[in-house]
Amino acid sequence: MALAAWLVRRGISSPGRARTGTAVLWLWWLQLGLNLAWSLTFFGRRRPGWGLVVISILEVTIIATTVADGAEQQVGVARYVRGDTPETAHVAEFAVVIADAWQHRGVAHKLMRKLIDAAADAGVRQLADITLFDNVAMLALARKLGFKVRRDPGNPNVTQLRLALQAPAT
Ligand SMILES: CC(C)(COP(=O)(O)OP(=O)(O)OC[C@H]1O[C@@H](n2cnc3c(N)ncnc32)[C@H](O)[C@@H]1OP(=O)(O)O)[C@@H](O)C(=O)NCCC(=O)NCCS
Repeated sequence: MALAAWLVRRGISSPGRARTGTAVLWLWWLQLGLNLAWSLTFFGRRRPGWGLVVISILEVTIIATTVADGAEQQVGVARYVRGDTPETAHVAEFAVVIADAWQHRGVAHKLMRKLIDAAADAGVRQLADITLFDNVAMLALARKLGFKVRRDPGNPNVTQLRLALQAPAT
């Protein structure tokens, strides 16, 4: 709740957000009250049924707060950069990062699929990246996308990721 309060305070101080900010602030207070009510009913009164009712209302207020605070947010980014000489222009390095709260929801997979299609359309023939050998999430994502994954022969801490791209059908 403290983190949520900080996010709400930060959100409502943004220019032009005073009106929705007030609604979000009130919803936050309601959530705080419901949290307290849940502890009192469930632990204090030992009434699981009432606790369930309170939790259900709490969930609705959380969803309402999320919708009311629906300002556009960046949740992740995937980019590629092509080589800058004629010999390397067909090879591109890529990077992808997803905000912690949005991981494990398929966002990186979707972004990378778009990136791969955009790169192929732009004439890139290979996407490449290196990552740490223990970056389990990235290695699994790369494998799922069809990248060749191999340890860097010169540096055991690093794994190379490569994907050959098809030229777009004309
Ligand atoms: C790597 C990263 C981009 C994955 O983002 P994500 O949105 O969580 O990934 P997705 O939800 O699209 O997952 C796609 C697949 O990757 C694999 N995967 C993702 N996170 C995983 C994890 N922690 N453990 C195992 N597999 C994982 C799974 O196979 C998953 O498919 P599934 O959902 O069908 O099981 C994210 O963890 C991240 O931003 N990491 C920090 C930045 C970074 O290391 N970038 C790579 C260097 S360029």
